[in-house]
Amino acid sequence: MKIVCLPGDGIGVEVTAAARQVLAVLAPDVELEERLFGGAAILETGTPFPDETLAACRDADAVLLGAVGLPQFDAADVRPEQGLIALRKALDVYANLRPSRQGQIDLLVVRELVGGLYYGPKGVRDDGTVFDTLEYHPTQVERIAHRAFSVARHRRRRVTSVDKANVLETSRMWRRVVTEVGTGYPDVELEHVLVDAAAMLLVTAPERFDVVLTENTFGDILSDEASALTGGLGLAASASLGDSGPGIYEPVHGSAPDIAGRGIANPAAMLRSVALMLEHGLGRTDDARRLDAAVDGALERAPTPDLGGVATTIDAVAAVLEELER
Ligand code: NAD
Ligand code: IPM
Ligand code: MN
Repeated sequence: MKIVCLPGDGIGVEVTAAARQVLAVLAPDVELEERLFGGAAILETGTPFPDETLAACRDADAVLLGAVGLPQFDAADVRPEQGLIALRKALDVYANLRPSRQGQIDLLVVRELVGGLYYGPKGVRDDGTVFDTLEYHPTQVERIAHRAFSVARHRRRRVTSVDKANVLETSRMWRRVVTEVGTGYPDVELEHVLVDAAAMLLVTAPERFDVVLTENTFGDILSDEASALTGGLGLAASASLGDSGPGIYEPVHGSAPDIAGRGIANPAAMLRSVALMLEHGLGRTDDARRLDAAVDGALERAPTPDLGGVATTIDAVAAVLEELER
């Protein structure tokens, strides 16, 4: 088994180091390679996603990604985030699974990841108008809907499809296709909720949700919101999966320039992403369960500042390793 690590920028580098420490103990047989990506790659090679990084990712069993983004590139033409968007497309990882769990809340955002506004035609017209285009082909909706219904079968069998069908053509097609796909899963309950109402319900009644199926941009926003209900971005993990080939496992959070370099990033989101990788990418479900339990235990014993504690990243990793030894 071979994993390509893309630490990227800011706290991406710090939490990837934490993941490597834990993997060295939990899965010493797995081979880890690091490659340049994001802002770090721009500084070194001029592009956020060098060909050599793409080749290594294609060749791997899984890709473990820290985070990309550096403030110095915020207004640049070549930006770290372009690398991430290109990587997801290159590996065709269309299904982004973002779980949130705490107390009564246990939901999974299933976010379409390689279509919509992020990938439609964009540019500037002669008159100065700037545009991004929201496009979906029905087959793109079909495959993500199938993914949502099948994962719902391993959960509470309820899919909430989120759209803006009162305004958007793409959403009306989305709703039609999701409904059609849903007829093949009569054991799974389907409801449709408009995105503005969904944003409200997530805050007022989060426990009512099981699988939340939605398009790329809505899923980006709603998954940060869901993370805020369940401990914050420091805990939120994700898996991005296609039909074949390596998946990408990455925290939901970004490079956090406000705390980067201080050694206080919460590594839990990354370690939970490692658990998703062990489960979905490497088929090591037992190790995944062990790691999740160890992270839960460590969070109680050594909370980082985002959780109101004083633990450093190193302290938190040490607590995870101790929990694993138990
Ligand atoms: P962010 O997720 O980096 O940070 C938001 C807030 O959450 C900050 O206050 C940060 O300190 C806190 N936070 C995030 N992760 C944390 C952790 N593990 N431990 C403790 N606190 C944590 O979002 P942002 O500030 O809006 O974006 C910063 C940069 O990251 C931008 O360049 C953005 O494009 C990029 N970004 C990248 C990804 C990714 O690589 N997948 C995701 C989101 C944002
Ligand atoms: C995420 C991030 C990315 C996204 C950015 C950095 C391109 O916010 O993974 O949620 O919008 O998908
Ligand atoms: Mn996001």
